[in-house]
Amino acid sequence: MQYKTLNNGLRMPQLGYGVWKVPNEEATTAVEQALEANYRLIDTAKVYGNERGVGKALANSKVSREDLFITTKVWNADQGYENTLKAFDTSLEKLGLDYVDLYLIHWPTPKYDTYVETYKALEKLYKDGRTKAIGVCNFDIEHLQRIMDECEVKPAVNQVECHPFLQQIELKQFCKDHDIQVEAYSPLMNGTNVMQHELIQALADQYSKTPAQIILRWQLQTDVIVIPKTITPSRMEENLNIFDFELNEADMDKIATLDRNERNNGVPSEMNHR
Ligand SMILES: NC(=O)c1ccc[n+]([C@@H]2O[C@H](COP(=O)([O-])OP(=O)(O)OC[C@H]3O[C@@H](n4cnc5c(N)ncnc54)[C@H](OP(=O)(O)O)[C@@H]3O)[C@@H](O)[C@H]2O)c1
Repeated sequence: MQYKTLNNGLRMPQLGYGVWKVPNEEATTAVEQALEANYRLIDTAKVYGNERGVGKALANSKVSREDLFITTKVWNADQGYENTLKAFDTSLEKLGLDYVDLYLIHWPTPKYDTYVETYKALEKLYKDGRTKAIGVCNFDIEHLQRIMDECEVKPAVNQVECHPFLQQIELKQFCKDHDIQVEAYSPLMNGTNVMQHELIQALADQYSKTPAQIILRWQLQTDVIVIPKTITPSRMEENLNIFDFELNEADMDKIATLDRNERNNGVPSEMNHR
């Protein structure tokens, strides 16, 4: 495993396991299999409805708490200072933990204009030692800038959709300039067409790897943290098996040409669902 050091000194695995769309009753087995395969970073969220199932797997596991890196997120309907503190308590109880490693705002939902006060609740949780780091998801530059202008603790992470068809070049540069770690969600575009692209297929043949491994390796080499999801144990292994090869510069440049601003999820500034 490779690690990234966040802007507060916390070490975070560069490859983790996401559990969006994994039903609660399947999440325990899925996370147990992921831990068995050697994943240590688990990414869940209140809205995924599987924190309890994830928590059960953590409780059953022999991996020590210090070696785990657990992320969860405050949902849009729970934004606001007091609501966020309550939502955090509920998430922690469901996970069966006494702290998380990373607590994130799930979406900025700018229409409601509550993400600054929500972030201030995250700052309190951070200062109280209940989360080792805080950050955001789906934040554009303007949202990040506002947090930095109006709050004290810089976000450690911005988790955003990122894959070869949506490379987030400008946002990545901004985050790099401000020491905010980018974490790529839907790194395989949620299992849709990016893995079938002819260039990705050709690189898979060239490196004797799978299309998913080519894409995940590309993510590592662009310095992001990456959290693919799969409920298939063989794919859990496959997605972890990306530390034994390196894409050369010419091939990284070829993948760069695939960027076409194509999203699987919504445009953050327009997503105001609760
Ligand atoms: N913050 C946010 O707003 C946000 C939004 C979306 C996602 N996320 C996080 O990011 C994680 C990952 O994103 P995602 O779940 O959207 O999608 P993803 O990881 O890009 O893709 C998952 C899909 O790809 C398939 N897959 C996985 N590995 C594969 C492989 N080696 N070969 C072929 N197919 C493979 C999976 O199928 P099977 O499961 O059937 O094997 C599943 O259908 C989520 O689980 C969640 O933790 C966060």
